[in-house]
Amino acid sequence: MTRVQAQRQGAPGDIAQALLVWYDRHARDLLWRVPPGAGARPDPYRVWLSEVMLQQTTVAAVAGYFARFTTRWPSVEALAAAQDADVMAEWAGLGYYARARNLLKCARAVVARGGFPATRAALQELPGIGPYTAAAIAAIAFDQPETVVDGNVERVMARLFDEHTPLPRAKPVLTALAASLTPDHRAGDYAQAVMDLGATICTPRNPACGICPLMAGCAARRAGTAAELPRKLPKTPKPVRYGIAYIGRRVDGAWLLERRPASGLLGGMLGWPGSAWAESAPADAPPAPAAWEVLPDEVRHTFTHFHLRLALRVAWLPMGAPGMFLDRDDFTPTALPSVMRKAHALAAPCLTLNPQEEP
Ligand code: ADE
Repeated sequence: MTRVQAQRQGAPGDIAQALLVWYDRHARDLLWRVPPGAGARPDPYRVWLSEVMLQQTTVAAVAGYFARFTTRWPSVEALAAAQDADVMAEWAGLGYYARARNLLKCARAVVARGGFPATRAALQELPGIGPYTAAAIAAIAFDQPETVVDGNVERVMARLFDEHTPLPRAKPVLTALAASLTPDHRAGDYAQAVMDLGATICTPRNPACGICPLMAGCAARRAGTAAELPRKLPKTPKPVRYGIAYIGRRVDGAWLLERRPASGLLGGMLGWPGSAWAESAPADAPPAPAAWEVLPDEVRHTFTHFHLRLALRVAWLPMGAPGMFLDRDDFTPTALPSVMRKAHALAAPCLTLNPQEEP
């Protein structure tokens, strides 16, 4: 079936309407969401925070972070006044730490200008707000008829219009198709409805076409191609990098840590001292003189652009050893980025003060 025929099956307004009717009954109950029909607009602060977090990971993984953030900082003013280190510690584990640094910059810019702007163009001028987040806030918080395109939306559009051009080349055409369906009214609910449909029915594998509210207008369903779409160009394999991390513990139980430079990977986060991460195994260069022991296990962690293999060294350090130490009671592994947390999990059993107290 051609795209024109598919569109005849369901005029854009009919598709949006069918989706809104479905959303009114089946919207997911999410912490940052105002349910359809509640007659209220969600707080732009909560929409912004949730959308920035959701760019990293799934709704399920974000829920706990969102709840902790909004309990500790219930408004953009509260977040703007937070200490950088506290925000980085709460963000730890979500990844993409430049986003957390931009989050703070953005909160401060919003407070300085007296609140969130209501248009996509003005939102996009704020630090860390790109086209996706600007469209999402404008649509969801301010009900502007903006089109929100994430991976879910791309998949729904590729199937609805049986679009076989592979991603990422298909992005502009899928965005244009999504825009052609965006309604003037309830654009925020509509944006969330497409994302919910992609997350619950039009799923990457085994889409539940039999219960889809858009089945009548779906070209891929008719062609039998839904499960193959969207097509994707093969990804280039990621290179491997190697590093060494030194997990040192002072005899009073304090841990030797460092705050990483503000820019670059894991910028501004706490971590274990160590080598640079290079294409071949680096030379040993301990941060303090001690009897460093080589651990048999290494940490494996995948970043956006490479796989890391991190060899580990552990040592007890004397009182008076140089470096930044965090008292045992102030140290929480959850404040570390995931790769550093993995290193702690492997090293900690070798550095227990009292095996019963610290399994
Ligand atoms: N994924 C990202 N943002 C979302 C939202 N607002 N609703 C549902 N899923 C989402």
